[in-house]
Amino acid sequence: MYAYELKCKTDPQWIKTVMADFDAFLIDHAANERKASTLAMSMVVHYPDKDDIVREMIDLAMEEMAHFREVIKIMLKRGLQQIPDKTNKYIGSFMKHMRKDPKHYLLDRLLMFSIVEKRGAERFGLVGEALTEAKIKDFYQRLAAAEYRHYELFISLAHKYYPHDEVMDRLNELLQVEADIVKSCPFKAAVH
Ligand SMILES: [Fe+2]
Ligand SMILES: [Fe+2]
Repeated sequence: MYAYELKCKTDPQWIKTVMADFDAFLIDHAANERKASTLAMSMVVHYPDKDDIVREMIDLAMEEMAHFREVIKIMLKRGLQQIPDKTNKYIGSFMKHMRKDPKHYLLDRLLMFSIVEKRGAERFGLVGEALTEAKIKDFYQRLAAAEYRHYELFISLAHKYYPHDEVMDRLNELLQVEADIVKSCPFKAAVH
């Protein structure tokens, strides 16, 4: 396994902000799961010649969609509705660092998705720890484990399609990019 660490931990103030407006967090979280599913399907469409990506990304799209369904169910029970998508500074800033040329685009996307999933795993873990109601606490702990698997999936795919040194060099650069973005984002009751 190609494990690595993020370059900064989430500030404890983030979980306080989330718990202070958990309804807002749920609404943002649902949108994130839906977008993760869409992104996985965009990979399926863009790389028809890469069997592994096609197979894994269809599974991933379905799993993220299942997460979306579960979050929506929790929202509906609480009388919450979805709101129109807002631009997200974390993802938007990260996307600006993707190299668009065909040789590097796949590597950059796989690494970015791996890092984003790892950050998701960290943060859902914090939410799971902070919640007290057993059912929803268990849900976030399961989600943290799922996002951890996705982090592993994306980094393995990166190593499958690119040479080791190239992956490690770019991974280090993008980990620094992500840490800088995390530190520049204001605390919100949102995943990022
Ligand atoms: Fe998910
Ligand atoms: Fe995920």
